[in-house]
Amino acid sequence: MIYRLARSLLFRINPELAHGVVAGLMARSGGFSPIRAAVKEAFPVPESQGVDAFGLHFPNPVGLAAGWDKEGEAWWGVSALGFGHVEIGTVTPKPQPGNPKPRVFRLPEHRSLINRMGFPGSGAEVVARNIARVPDRGNLILGVNIGKQKTTPLEDAAEDYCVLMEKFAPMADYLAVNISSPNTPGLRKLQHQESLRPLLGRVAEQKDRLQQELGRRVPLLVKVAPDLDDEGIRGAVDAIVEAGMDGLIATNTTIGRKGVEDSPLADETGGLSGEALRDLSMDFLGKVLGYLGGAIPVISVGGIMTADDALARLDAGAALVQLFTGLIYSGPGLPSAIVKSVIQGAEKLTGSSNDGG
Ligand SMILES: Cc1cc2nc3c(=O)[nH]c(=O)nc-3n(C[C@H](O)[C@H](O)[C@H](O)COP(=O)(O)O)c2cc1C
Repeated sequence: MIYRLARSLLFRINPELAHGVVAGLMARSGGFSPIRAAVKEAFPVPESQGVDAFGLHFPNPVGLAAGWDKEGEAWWGVSALGFGHVEIGTVTPKPQPGNPKPRVFRLPEHRSLINRMGFPGSGAEVVARNIARVPDRGNLILGVNIGKQKTTPLEDAAEDYCVLMEKFAPMADYLAVNISSPNTPGLRKLQHQESLRPLLGRVAEQKDRLQQELGRRVPLLVKVAPDLDDEGIRGAVDAIVEAGMDGLIATNTTIGRKGVEDSPLADETGGLSGEALRDLSMDFLGKVLGYLGGAIPVISVGGIMTADDALARLDAGAALVQLFTGLIYSGPGLPSAIVKSVIQGAEKLTGSSNDGG
């Protein structure tokens, strides 16, 4: 009821402003324990066995996808909704404005969004300071998604990723190399094998160096786009595995418009997310898992709008799932609903139940 009212209000203002209002509230409430406790009570998440992946222990399989908290300000507050992990960013080395506004569009009839944000942000220095404001994050897993500066030529992109790894490895549980945003010109070309191999080679060297320095392994994941064809997927998967990456995040938004052709906003440039991405992202997951053959775990993201959507990804073989657009259309109860369904599913399989019934 309260969410329906809030949603109706928020949907009357432009999407980026609405997001800013919600993220601002989460940022302010995060450090205030009575609010955190109240949010946790409203969206209870039962204890579960959690998930072991990339050498980390995730308290549950549901995460917040990158882009929701680009500045690293609101992740602690929003985690109270029941997320087992949050991925902040994409963070770039230096501040940059992103694309001109408006750059986010709602397609409510399709429960989808189009965005062309273009990595706006205050840069690595500020984000690192923001992360450090939360001294103890308990068992929450924190990922930092890193991306190249718009002005950095593609051939120098590895340098940006290495700088960002150095900055965030000491404070992140995992790092995600974003080479799949459609809104930074040329970025997706880095997914092609001939560019990806040298890039990941450099990044892997930096990972080894940082491991020596920190005495701790910081898993490195690569986030890919759903618009790769089969040959492209296979090439990217081979390069990712050969470079010794720890995992894969599939998928980012699509530049396709399948299913939303009738929307007056379909011609807006940018990446499509939400329900319209669901089938593509699910198909992509199947292909990626097939090519990987279990080599490394996959986080599935894209069009997860319900608990059943999430269960389908986990049943297909994803280790974890992430949400973004589902949170906007299905509401703040989605993470806890997914965790409950996962636990119920596991209990059915084992024939056990927490209530002894
Ligand atoms: C407004 C918006 C901004 C996003 N920004 C980023 C980003 O900075 N980095 C990134 O890797 N993905 C970004 N994404 C993509 C999401 O992380 C996710 O991969 C995609 O939206 C598909 O999931 P969904 O259908 O649950 O939203 C963004 C998505 C949206 C809607």
